[in-house]
Amino acid sequence: MRYRRYRLTLITSASLVSIIFYFFLFTPPTTPMPLIQPSPPFCPQSDFQNDVLVVLRTGATEILEKLPVHFETVLGCVPDYVIYSDMEEDIEGHHTYDVLDQVNGTLKNTVPEFELYNRLHVGGREGLEYHTVFGSGPDGALENPGWKLDKWKFLPMVDRALQRKPGAKWFVFIEADTYMVWQNMLEYLSKFDDRLPYYIGKQMQIGGVIFAHGGSGFALSNTAMKKVTDYWKGHQEEFDHYTQDQWAGDMILGKALKDVGIELFWGFPHLQGDSISTLDWNVSNIDRQPWCFAPITFHHATKSEFNMMWQFEQEWYRQHPEGDALRFRDVFKGLLYHHLQTKRANWDSISTEIKYSDESLGKLSDEERSRLSPVQQQAPSSFEKCQAACESRPACIQFSYTPGKCFTSKELRLGYAAESQCIEYSSVAGKCVDSGVKEKANDATHQEGNVVQSGWIMKRVSSYMQELDQPCDSIAGNGWVT
Ligand SMILES: *[C@@H]1O[C@H](CO)[C@@H](O)[C@H](O)[C@H]1NC(C)=O
Ligand SMILES: *[C@@H]1O[C@H](CO)[C@@H](O)[C@H](O)[C@H]1NC(C)=O
Repeated sequence: MRYRRYRLTLITSASLVSIIFYFFLFTPPTTPMPLIQPSPPFCPQSDFQNDVLVVLRTGATEILEKLPVHFETVLGCVPDYVIYSDMEEDIEGHHTYDVLDQVNGTLKNTVPEFELYNRLHVGGREGLEYHTVFGSGPDGALENPGWKLDKWKFLPMVDRALQRKPGAKWFVFIEADTYMVWQNMLEYLSKFDDRLPYYIGKQMQIGGVIFAHGGSGFALSNTAMKKVTDYWKGHQEEFDHYTQDQWAGDMILGKALKDVGIELFWGFPHLQGDSISTLDWNVSNIDRQPWCFAPITFHHATKSEFNMMWQFEQEWYRQHPEGDALRFRDVFKGLLYHHLQTKRANWDSISTEIKYSDESLGKLSDEERSRLSPVQQQAPSSFEKCQAACESRPACIQFSYTPGKCFTSKELRLGYAAESQCIEYSSVAGKCVDSGVKEKANDATHQEGNVVQSGWIMKRVSSYMQELDQPCDSIAGNGWVT
């Protein structure tokens, strides 16, 4: 498990809200699946695609688990890409480069963050000692050395990418859990003048620096690349010191860009910090809602989400040879909708808005309880009562239930297969804090019926789609953020 510990500020139109969150970047290694020979992907062609270099930044600790699915899906349609890591190796016939090889040797020998790097370069992958390094719980993972090393990669990565394809018009940077809708990325970038210094991403802020969130993916025009690498080369020692004091590499790059006067172009909602499972499909940020827009990235994408989205995209391009851009609403209607049901077992829909539990109801005084409707009072007692509690509130669209706990929400999310309920959700980290039933799974009292079930109020899902579709008919509501 790899956690990222971020203390970030998410920018909204109204306010700057501080959020501490954790990135879970690593999943434990699993048994390899039998190899199915994939048919060649269907890739819509454009001349412009040859003017773009895609850079995937990763690390030796996550690469085996997270990289292969990229080759079977999105990268299958990307003509020119490069993988930058902290170790040079070949993964399924694809070369990865050590992007840290030119970092000042004194730093590598003195800064503790390079301990993992040095170990990798002496002992190779065998030097990793997976289990002792990562631990099995949050305590071990918070100290994840792969994440601590990551911040050192950003500036060298930009420099290296420019050297690799000096004539590229655009450079696109993604991470190992970033799902990129390549066709939409191309369409989007073609709307900007690459001769101008562009830095396009999903906005984040730390201190005075507004920068593009790394996991949501970002793009730099050739001009921006040149400016920032020239500057970095003249101030390398300064940046080495700065990097030692900071913890987020995407912010460090943002600072360098800011220093040369290149401000971030805010690419929300095209670029998303959530995955298709955790996204609130009517999320509102800087007064923009995704529905009518085209998705370009989803972050925190798991292997199964990669496969789901990829199959969907492939089907979409075959059915839309005229080249219509895929929109969030198309993904919702064509992919998500089929997973929504009145009742879905072993599923957590991430409903964390209004909660009714035996425990919290038990703490209420008689007077407080009398203010609740009978439906609300009974909500934790069965799946059907929980459903009724949701139905009794006009805005409620989904709920999740375990005995004694009924969680409801007006935000629509798909969620995922789970044994325990999400009790708190961070839309910045794309992660849940769950109620921990899973840990007691071996407990003799743990019954089949105790796992989480979810449901959607399907007639409200229909109205939800209709309502959100409305602005898509106007040009203003159906465009690109440029
Ligand atoms: C490497 O870093 C050390 C410590 O900051 C510094 O004294 C030295 O000049 C640097 N070396 C190079 C080649 O930049
Ligand atoms: C979507 O969000 C907006 C802004 O938060 C809200 O006014 C609207 O009612 C929501 N629509 C639906 C269908 O939930």
